[in-house]
Amino acid sequence: MKETLEKVINKHEGKPGAIISVLEDIQETQGYLPKEILEQISEKMKVPLSQLFSMATFYSAFSLKPRGKHTLYVCLGTACHVRGGARIIKGVSKQLGIKPGDTTEDRNFTLETLRCIGCCSLAPVIKVDNDDVYGYNTVDKIHGIVDKYKEEG
Ligand code: FES
Repeated sequence: MKETLEKVINKHEGKPGAIISVLEDIQETQGYLPKEILEQISEKMKVPLSQLFSMATFYSAFSLKPRGKHTLYVCLGTACHVRGGARIIKGVSKQLGIKPGDTTEDRNFTLETLRCIGCCSLAPVIKVDNDDVYGYNTVDKIHGIVDKYKEEG
């Protein structure tokens, strides 16, 4: 990673928004922002580590923990909650063997919850990655959806 990090820093250094660009590149290649790499960036770019942590926690595109290849969001907004959102999150947690906020050991999935994605008429709703929305879910249906993403890799 040392060589790659130096390349990444050299590519962006001196440009406006260089720090964000460096963090974006690391997030993309590593899947998250490892603490030891943030320490190296801090040292090399002469930016306080606290500032890097602030940026990493402020922007939702960054993660300080390893993330899965896919992020599965279960909506727990009011409409989805009323139509069984709690059952869905319980079923998905059991299937993946993780709690919301965690990532599977094989780094395939990160499980998250969110509050309403504006498709309440399809409740209960889940979303995979940025734009794949699935409605009228049951625990069984979601098993099939998870398997589909597993097969796709
Ligand atoms: S409450 Fe789930 S989409 Fe609106």
